Amino acid sequence: MIFIDACKRIETPYTPVWMMRQAGRYLSEYKEVRKQAGSFLDLCKNVDLASEVTLQPVDILNVDAAILFSDILVVPLEMGLGLEFVSGEGPRFLRTISNYDDVCSLKKDIAKNLDYVYDTISQVRARLPKDKALIGFCGSPWTLATYMIEGQGTKSYAKSKKMLYQSPQTLHYLLKQIADELKDYLLGQIRAGANCVMIFDSWAAALEKEAFFEFSWGYMKDIAREIKKQYPEIPVILFPKGVGAYLDDIDGEFDVFGVDWGTPLELAKSKLGSRYVLQGNLEPCRIYNEDAMEMGIDEIISIMGKRAGHIFNLGHGMLPDLPRENAIKLVEMVHKKTKR
Ligand code: CP3
Repeated sequence: MIFIDACKRIETPYTPVWMMRQAGRYLSEYKEVRKQAGSFLDLCKNVDLASEVTLQPVDILNVDAAILFSDILVVPLEMGLGLEFVSGEGPRFLRTISNYDDVCSLKKDIAKNLDYVYDTISQVRARLPKDKALIGFCGSPWTLATYMIEGQGTKSYAKSKKMLYQSPQTLHYLLKQIADELKDYLLGQIRAGANCVMIFDSWAAALEKEAFFEFSWGYMKDIAREIKKQYPEIPVILFPKGVGAYLDDIDGEFDVFGVDWGTPLELAKSKLGSRYVLQGNLEPCRIYNEDAMEMGIDEIISIMGKRAGHIFNLGHGMLPDLPRENAIKLVEMVHKKTKR
């Protein structure tokens, strides 16, 4: 698999490409299946339909990897916080975590309740062409904790940071408990057939440098180390979004570092490129305009070159109104322009 070889810095015939949030509302085929499923969570739990939408971008865009269709929030859902997706407003938890007793009340050993995810992985792996990889994923403990504490998306992260500064041991207790569940969850995804796993730390940038390493990166590294210990051949991708100013202190046992669009790629290359394969980092909004997109692609290829060490991706997720025709062209252009 070209994508897996690239994760291991093995030379490939071209630079592999996939797109974060490649399954979603910018595809009419996705919207059709989503309607059939009912709610977003119904879609995540419906093995046949979740498999279908996982495979759609591989067929339509010709990306080199599929990413499991699910959501990072199914873990806190199974830990006992009721979850709903309010249309136009995003996720909302029915219960939130604000103190030590709340953390104690969370359900443990929940990875065994996520069979719908493992079954989707097995079905997708069976249907996916042999040369295409399947990526499993989870959210980082810190990013999941912010949703569990705030109950929904937030601009200030005030409740989460209040816990961090008023009762850091409570936050550590919560993060440790989430991290333990995530290890089992990712191991389950690998046993079901995932060829690679990725941890999304979407809200890393909410933390000051020292707080990021103590409350987020440490837990991500710990999960990565456990995966590499049990499955050394499975690549691990870590994506802490928005930490370009903290790159000097990035270390740990993992394979690929996801670079967000706000971090200059030449900076990431100079600080991390010799130790980790880099993934990224086209600004997704460039896809609105074909010329802007091609300029962005050329710039990235000129920095990363055509040798091993790079996986092409966006610097964050696809947006619901991006033109699919340009997304298709993006994959064609990357394959053609990086052909060895
Ligand atoms: O194609 C893929 O990348 C795989 C599927 C995937 C989804 N969510 C599907 C989804 C992945 C990898 C995620 C990760 C995720 N979910 C993250 C981390 C990555 C990132 O973007 O930073 C986060 C923070 C979430 C939480 C989440 N899920 C939010 C805030 C929302 C609402 C925002 C929105 O776009 O509506 C979701 C819903 C969600 N997850 C959708 C999809 C396709 C849209 C649901 C719909 O069909 O209406």
